[in-house]
Amino acid sequence: MGRRKRLKDKDLFETVEEVWDRQTLLAAYEVMRRLRIDRFAGVVSAGKEARVYRAIGRRGEEYAVKIYLTVTAEFRKSIQKYLLGDPRFRNVDTSNTKKLFFAWARKEFRNLKRMYEAGVSVPRPYLVYQNIIVMEFIGRDGLRAPTLREAAPELDEGELERLAWEALEQYRRIYCCARLVHADYSEFNLMYLDGRLYVIDVAQAVSLEHPNAEDFLRHDVSNIYRFFAKEYGVELPPPEELVGWVKRCETRCPERREERAEASAG
Ligand SMILES: Nc1ncnc2c1ncn2[C@@H]1O[C@H](COP(=O)(O)OP(=O)(O)O)[C@@H](O)[C@H]1O
Ligand SMILES: [Mg+2]
Repeated sequence: MGRRKRLKDKDLFETVEEVWDRQTLLAAYEVMRRLRIDRFAGVVSAGKEARVYRAIGRRGEEYAVKIYLTVTAEFRKSIQKYLLGDPRFRNVDTSNTKKLFFAWARKEFRNLKRMYEAGVSVPRPYLVYQNIIVMEFIGRDGLRAPTLREAAPELDEGELERLAWEALEQYRRIYCCARLVHADYSEFNLMYLDGRLYVIDVAQAVSLEHPNAEDFLRHDVSNIYRFFAKEYGVELPPPEELVGWVKRCETRCPERREERAEASAG
């Protein structure tokens, strides 16, 4: 991670004006109380719907705190496409914006937890409360790790090839062990730290029973193929073969503990 990146993050921190409504502020206090978080230490990312912050605990532990704040037209579409098709969330009242946020945050947390328990490399999930998710901070010295997209230009051919298969292996675990499809799997939603990839942004992931799961799977695998093979010239079998490779599930999953995870995620 170069000097330019550092400056960019600093600029973001200093110029982004925070606008939290009263309820989000109260929710943030409650999260701080429960996890013994001392302070929020800057904006890591200001996306269209969600902001991600770095927060620091009493003993210096770091957390990533993702807060859903804005309803966009795209977000409404996502609700239709990824939330209502999922039996776990069929009864959400879509006319109530707050409830939508809470359901969406809960969905992200449950997906994260399910992947974590299935041995997928994701940030460790800590807590969901209303529109707020708290997880492990992926980074070093107060700076977030780069995404795969940001890291790739500085990596050599061998490392890129290794990471292509690592990205596919993590996907295989999502599919075969967590029994989910990510549905937004790409170089933007993989972080790179110490040679390791971390899968993030899992709110839209759906279970294999979702009517579009197969399409999402193909799309996700094609993204990985496009990025590594087309953009970086890594030699990979064509996407159809990679989809087959994922679906053969020739991987070892940790002992199934989903039921327990589901029960405690609430
Ligand atoms: N656990 C984390 N640790 C450090 N940075 C994170 C973490 N999760 C997300 N980020 C940063 O925030 C950005 C946006 O997060 P993401 O979950 O992808 O939200 P969005 O829905 O806005 O794309 C990521 O690209 C990454 O830079
Ligand atoms: Mg993202």
